[in-house]
Amino acid sequence: MRLIIQKNYTNVSKWTAKYIKNKINVFNPTESNPFVLGLPTGSSPIGTYEALVELYEQGELSFKHVITFNMDEYVGLPSNHPESYTAFMYHHLFDHIDIPKNQINILDGNAQNLELECQTFEEKISLVGGIHLFLGGIGSDGHIAFNEPGSSLSSQTRIKTLTKETIIANSRFFKNDLSQVPTTALTVGVKTVMDADEVIIIVTGQNKARALAKAIEEGVNHMWTISMLQLHPHGIIVTDDDATDELKVGTVNYFKEIEVENIL
Ligand code: GLP
Repeated sequence: MRLIIQKNYTNVSKWTAKYIKNKINVFNPTESNPFVLGLPTGSSPIGTYEALVELYEQGELSFKHVITFNMDEYVGLPSNHPESYTAFMYHHLFDHIDIPKNQINILDGNAQNLELECQTFEEKISLVGGIHLFLGGIGSDGHIAFNEPGSSLSSQTRIKTLTKETIIANSRFFKNDLSQVPTTALTVGVKTVMDADEVIIIVTGQNKARALAKAIEEGVNHMWTISMLQLHPHGIIVTDDDATDELKVGTVNYFKEIEVENIL
């Protein structure tokens, strides 16, 4: 696993957006051979989305032949609710780029048959030949997508109950009213993410420091689902100095040294 330590959130966002842009451009997607991108929500990727929109506006990147799959969606929030992940994605990315609407895949948390919705989502991923690059973030308890502690490391897309910690963390988007936060969500599984050719996880801020230490310095453990990235052949965590607070000095120095050319 690679660990790229940038000095702050802005540099994490710039580096990640440029990396994604290069991947898409080198792939040179066409209608018959599209690039398949997995995407997250949350505050972690907002800066990256802003940087991607900027690159698009500068003519350096097109999403015309990109297919996207989003990681997760709340159950029961109308898709036009400002805090639905669907609304989030349009607001921060899709409304500002040239991606055709029919190439955007987001789980429907209001589907009549939620299990079928999850199964169909996995089938759609298989039909396009899998995900080339999955971008993600983590919760402070180390969850990836909504794979809360204890999730099966070989899980696929399914319904999950959110932990109290996640509900409290996400209540900031619901006027700090815990009762407004949905208690269940549809989420890709740990395996769905790990099956991608490449995975990039953004981890920023001091509140993620413990999870980052668990992900990097301890073993693979279902209580910290991000730790599964250790088994991925092409996994990258992009982080900032604040999030490295609980790593050993030696660990930080080691990764800063071997990634010196990647530090902005
Ligand atoms: C939610 C999402 C995750 C995201 C996490 C962290 O739980 N399901 O995909 O990684 O929030 O969000 P933030 O980036 O706002 O800290």
